[in-house]
Amino acid sequence: MTLAVDFSPFETNWTTTLVVLAVEGPVLLPKAREIDEKTGGQVSKALKAANAKAKSGEIVEILAPAGISAQKILVLGLGAVEKIAAKTLEAAGGALAAKLQKAGEAPAAVCAESNEASSHSDAELAARLALGARLRNYRFDKYRTTQTEDEQAGLDKLTLFVADPAAATQAYGRLVPLADGVDFARDLVSEPPNVLFPVEMAARAKALTALGVKVSVLGEAEMAGLGMGALLGVGQGSRRESQLIVLEWRGASNPDDAPLALVGKGVCFDTGGISLKPAADMWDMKFDMGGAAAVLGAFHTLAARKAKANVVGVIAAVENMPDGNAQRPGDVVTSMSGQTIEVLNTDAEGRLILADAVWYAQQTFKPRALIDLATLTGAIIIALGSEIAGLFANDDTLAADLLAAAETSGERLWRMPLGDHFDKKIKSQIADMQNIANGRDAGASIGAVFVGRFIRDIPWAHLDIAGVAWTKEARDTTPKGAVGFGVRLLDSYIARAAEPSA
Ligand code: BES
Ligand code: MN
Ligand code: ZN
Repeated sequence: MTLAVDFSPFETNWTTTLVVLAVEGPVLLPKAREIDEKTGGQVSKALKAANAKAKSGEIVEILAPAGISAQKILVLGLGAVEKIAAKTLEAAGGALAAKLQKAGEAPAAVCAESNEASSHSDAELAARLALGARLRNYRFDKYRTTQTEDEQAGLDKLTLFVADPAAATQAYGRLVPLADGVDFARDLVSEPPNVLFPVEMAARAKALTALGVKVSVLGEAEMAGLGMGALLGVGQGSRRESQLIVLEWRGASNPDDAPLALVGKGVCFDTGGISLKPAADMWDMKFDMGGAAAVLGAFHTLAARKAKANVVGVIAAVENMPDGNAQRPGDVVTSMSGQTIEVLNTDAEGRLILADAVWYAQQTFKPRALIDLATLTGAIIIALGSEIAGLFANDDTLAADLLAAAETSGERLWRMPLGDHFDKKIKSQIADMQNIANGRDAGASIGAVFVGRFIRDIPWAHLDIAGVAWTKEARDTTPKGAVGFGVRLLDSYIARAAEPSA
């Protein structure tokens, strides 16, 4: 269930948990000082005893405080005043939600107020804390029929005490489309692969029509008509029909202005195909549609907030299975672009489906730029780990705008190299190219240059999100599992680079 957030005027006779704020030092904010006085200095003594610094997300717990009705006080750290930003506040809100879940005893109320030295208004601060709490509180438990007490420990409701509830409600309202988009993406990634196959993904995409997104879907017959041999080859071992999902949001003042194109890898399950993956942890290849989920989540957000930009989306949704009809290592397929590909490893399937999806996007929409998102390579995980995605770009302005969006959204990117010296490693003996290099060197760049062969003369960025789409441990605003990575990044990028500044 989604966390219900409400904002109300300050109140101190609260019977459960009262949360007060401190900035690094630690320095108590005014309401926290008020509570400190009421408790005869218990708050400041507790901070001292805990040797607390009030770093972002640091929490000190005071049980059974004297002088007030609350059973507990939590002092929530916001970090250094000069570093307070949307993402540090969200992280603090996330840490608070995690703590309150563990305590298992909502309701709690947060005395939300900002420090004069911070550039955030009280309303904005409260809204960001609430957003962080809501994102961290995400759970996917539709398939549980019973729950232990521990598993039930999600929060239902969070109250924030603010000076101006109407302003905070409005500020939070502006952020709800973001959280809804992220949760939409997380739900898709969390779904098991027997439920979320390509046709089902298309059905979920169609639900976005309710928000005003135009959604159309091509099946295998239509894709065959377009000559999408690379995409169809990947899906050919699956009983589930491959789908090309096409989305359009035209929010710019001129709906005919060239759009931005977002392309997502939607491998609903990646067994590796005939180049079968090892059994250990193969289940996690259900998240191989994380790029598609990011695109769908971003459309959810853009439409819900009525973004003033033209954006189109193309998602290649397939299932990569071994089967009597599966493609073989050694097969040669012809892509929609006309270029032929020797498929030397059927597990390098993401680049094959992207080849046709990016070509289709360019031919159909003549976009002014194209960004693809894909859980493309294990190599990017080796290079960058699980908190930073790889950015490959043929255009420095696009790269700089994406890096800036990464900075504001907190979804981190690191620029990685493209180059002809990589490209020459995918020369094939018998076709225009092969889908892998010989050997494992620079595997993420090899994947990227392969996709680059299908980009015509436009600014293009490829985000390899293999390491960041799923998290094995909870952190900041993300519980364990599906991250929804890319939704906020794309939203920030579009707000920055594609919309008129407000
Ligand atoms: N979906 C995988 C990449 C992946 C691995 C994503 C681990 C998330 C976690 C992709 O389709 C794949 O199998 N890539 C191969 C490419 C190789 C055969 C050139 C890889 O990275 O091993
Ligand atoms: Mn694969
Ligand atoms: Zn894959």
